[in-house]
Amino acid sequence: MQQISLTINDKKITAPKGEYLLRAALNNDIYIPNLCAIEGKSEPMAGCRLCFVEVAGNSQPVTACTETVREGMIVDTRGTEALRLAGTGFELLMASHPVDCGHCAANRSCELQKIAAHLRVKLKTKRFRTLLRQLPVDTSHPEFTYNPDKCVLCGRCIWTCQQLGKTTLGFAHRGFNRVVTTFGDRPMAESDCGDCRQCVSVCPCGALVLKDR
Ligand code: FES
Repeated sequence: MQQISLTINDKKITAPKGEYLLRAALNNDIYIPNLCAIEGKSEPMAGCRLCFVEVAGNSQPVTACTETVREGMIVDTRGTEALRLAGTGFELLMASHPVDCGHCAANRSCELQKIAAHLRVKLKTKRFRTLLRQLPVDTSHPEFTYNPDKCVLCGRCIWTCQQLGKTTLGFAHRGFNRVVTTFGDRPMAESDCGDCRQCVSVCPCGALVLKDR
């Protein structure tokens, strides 16, 4: 595989031709906030809008999960405008996310906490009005619970489920009402969900949680 040389934050790296900038950065221990990028998925969803970076020669920041590496590319993940856009996207996301870390099973392993620290943004935003969906928690499955209010719609669980040859989970509805749910919006225990628990293992933020946690 042809290797491409580029520079991110003054660090010279190489990445396979065709690789997305986000993956190239993460593989070289350069963190860029992200939620909806899934390793192994060929087409990025580009829905969370957290992975903005600045590329020399571009007038606007770009999303690192959709930009492929180019020879000689110079990238800054800490540019003011990129951080401003990512910070605004994150605050908007958190305006509809219940923040109760002390009682959340994902506390300290939560991707949202990591992103907030990286962007130096508070988890509880004051900038935007908090608007929670207040959907019921699904406790029907014997192995895990699903709290749709905590779901950040990254799609990781859906993709993972599909990779296992199943179609238990999918997106339903649009806009503010968009939600990850089962076919027919049935409780998990009444769907064809088995006990692989792979969806739980990829959830970044405590929406899907094992009951024994
Ligand atoms: S990771 Fe790039 S938009 Fe979500």
